[in-house]
Amino acid sequence: WPFHAPYVKAINELKRERNAVILAHNYQTPEIFHCVADYVGDSLQLAKLAAASEAEVIVQGGVHFMAETSKILSPEKIVLTPDSEAGCSLAASITAADVRALRAEYPGVPIVAYVNTSAEVKAEVDICCTSSNALKIVESLGSDRVIMLPDRYLAENVAAQTKVKILAWHGACEVHERFTPQELEAYRADHPGLTIIAHPECPREVVEISDFAGSTAAMIDYVRRNKPARVLLVTECSMADNVAAETSGTEFVRPCNFCPHMKRITLPKILDSLLYMREEVTVDPMIAERARRSVQRMIDVG
Ligand code: 13P
Ligand code: SF4
Repeated sequence: WPFHAPYVKAINELKRERNAVILAHNYQTPEIFHCVADYVGDSLQLAKLAAASEAEVIVQGGVHFMAETSKILSPEKIVLTPDSEAGCSLAASITAADVRALRAEYPGVPIVAYVNTSAEVKAEVDICCTSSNALKIVESLGSDRVIMLPDRYLAENVAAQTKVKILAWHGACEVHERFTPQELEAYRADHPGLTIIAHPECPREVVEISDFAGSTAAMIDYVRRNKPARVLLVTECSMADNVAAETSGTEFVRPCNFCPHMKRITLPKILDSLLYMREEVTVDPMIAERARRSVQRMIDVG
């Protein structure tokens, strides 16, 4: 705290001067999440907040595809990323050329892109989805076959809940794919009465043995509503820290899988970002226009 405090103070002052807001994903570290963020949430919530915000400047506490999504939805705003190297193994697993090849191979089959993709990929697909609305989006398309990309585990987890045949790309989240059912069973054995809540980017066998699966916001909601005595959040490590800080009466059992990309965002880099107004995130207007259609269609489905 003594180390964080001067940064927190300087960032909060500069935010007002610049008419800026900080959007922080649920995986940001507690000093960002609790001390400087104006809005926190999952990918869908952050996308909507970016569009609704009246600030002139958005500082994205999250990875690059999230900053791009903010820019796509708010082209008139200055969107800053504190570290332009903050990537994502899912977004890196597929290119726009890959999507065009899929389109040629499966003509007429609708393509759904998880928001964890580049603007170029979003521009090529029919609609986007997040982990909180994926099933709804797939079923809204009125097709008996749908291509879902790039996360094969999210695709498998959606396929298990619908009659629609899902064709999946082979990407995976490097954080969630590391969890195993054996590891979770061992935690259950050591911690009687443990409630296990998983993110749908986890392998199918992990979701199958969990008590609930949902987006990061849905996981937080589950803890708030059900107040389990002991809970294990099968997701990125900082989320349990953030939720535990505002939850009493629940013990958090913590396996710790960090996302190295999310962890590139730090208080000193956020301060630099506001001080020097860098790195500005830009998206080619032609690409942004087409990507916006895919993201807006998702938002319109609800
Ligand atoms: P959500 O917050 O939408 O569940 O996404 C999780 C994630 O891994 C984002 O990178
Ligand atoms: Fe990408 Fe996984 Fe990190 Fe989220 S947690 S940014 S999906 S690598």
